[in-house]
Amino acid sequence: MRLCMVGTGYVGLVSGACFAETGNDVVCADVDTAKIARLEKGELPLFEPGLDELCARNVSEGRLRFSSDVARSIAESEVVLVAVGTPPRSDGAADLQAVDRVAEVVARHAARPTVLVLKSTVPVGTNARVRRIVSGAAQPIHVVSNPEFLKEGNALDDFMKPDRIVLGCDPGDALARDTMSRLYHPVTLSAERIVWMDPESAELTKYVANTMLAMRISFMNEVAALCEKVGADVHLVRKGVGTDERIGSKFLYSGPGYGGSCFPKDVVALVHTAREHGVELELASATDRVNQRQKGTLARKLKHSHFAGDLRNKRIALWGLAFKPRTDDVRESPALTLIDALLGDGAEVRAHDPEAMANVAAIYGERVTLTEDAYAAADGADALVLVTEWRQYQNPDFARLLRTMRRPLVLDGRNIWSGYGLRAMGFTYDGIGARGS
Ligand SMILES: NC(=O)c1ccc[n+]([C@@H]2O[C@H](COP(=O)([O-])OP(=O)(O)OC[C@H]3O[C@@H](n4cnc5c(N)ncnc54)[C@H](O)[C@@H]3O)[C@@H](O)[C@H]2O)c1
Repeated sequence: MRLCMVGTGYVGLVSGACFAETGNDVVCADVDTAKIARLEKGELPLFEPGLDELCARNVSEGRLRFSSDVARSIAESEVVLVAVGTPPRSDGAADLQAVDRVAEVVARHAARPTVLVLKSTVPVGTNARVRRIVSGAAQPIHVVSNPEFLKEGNALDDFMKPDRIVLGCDPGDALARDTMSRLYHPVTLSAERIVWMDPESAELTKYVANTMLAMRISFMNEVAALCEKVGADVHLVRKGVGTDERIGSKFLYSGPGYGGSCFPKDVVALVHTAREHGVELELASATDRVNQRQKGTLARKLKHSHFAGDLRNKRIALWGLAFKPRTDDVRESPALTLIDALLGDGAEVRAHDPEAMANVAAIYGERVTLTEDAYAAADGADALVLVTEWRQYQNPDFARLLRTMRRPLVLDGRNIWSGYGLRAMGFTYDGIGARGS
């Protein structure tokens, strides 16, 4: 099939490359001409494990290309997939301007009956809104809601081996149903992974899934704070709770608060949508409030528990800047909240991340010292804070850190290190509700 993927960000580039890999003829189109120019030169504008190789192979085999001519790319395609950003507006609602723009271009330029697939995360009612925008088109446009569930850092696998594909469209729309079934056949094989539903339910499913996951994290972060007060260990509580099959073990990790371009904005957007319909989602609102507070935890711990309220001229080393491992994405990362607080308090910040340093440099310039080597960040430091649990930080040379840090204080924001072992070595260890078993 001839596909046009509009938006070449984390979702669009991964999905476009994966659809090319399964034999489709894909053009990835974007209004960001600099991004397209890099892609045409064989450079990726973002880091996602395995994506460089996947893109290179499909480009060289002629199934994947890039274009900044969005209208023409749409006109050449039978299926147009929309993966543009839907960032939060100041009132928390999702900003749908980019989605609307793409729908308008489709309405004007579609040259044949076209299936228009909404992969961007969009609030309930967007499918209907897009149908209104394309209703005057010269060609029939079949609108399908297909929220994306891939996770940065594991996106290729998530795409190729999805838990499920959610598709929302009019049950009587045979062309849309047939096209979507064929498109996803290679990754679903038996069609049982496809969950068909109406567009409104599909749109809501995405927000409910993200909010539920975020809620588990926020609840465990509250539990972690309680653990610290009562002398319990959140690690053990998590294990005890997560082995209950009704609960399951995932998304129960306490830490510095959730970040990324999805959970924070999606929780708030769901609350906003509900309010517009006269429904108050108390749990979702509290999930966001707890997370906002949690994102200040590392800074508060440093300042008040370890430096008596004064961080001036303290050298603080950060390991991990991306909002999670295996991505270069720093959007809403807890590391940024920590950096802002530390700089505001007059501390010196030195940091390392395997992939995200360029994105942090673009925000802070020389106000943050970024080191190519993780140990160099900790040289002469008054504290080392583990913010993102990249594998390479899991078992570092603590003896070397002990020798090179000015003060042997480690703040383990992901509870991955052994507090007992580190204390025995002479470190001061602090975690998030964990004694550090
Ligand atoms: N990042 C994730 O892990 C993830 C996962 C699931 C769903 N989503 C959702 O998918 C959508 C895209 O997310 P992302 O992280 O890939 O965003 P992104 O910011 O990385 O990429 C969006 C791209 O869309 C382009 N764009 C904007 N307006 C355009 C227009 N009018 N025409 C063509 N291109 C345009 C931008 O230039 C940018 O390259 C969002 O709605 C997001 O909530 C993201």
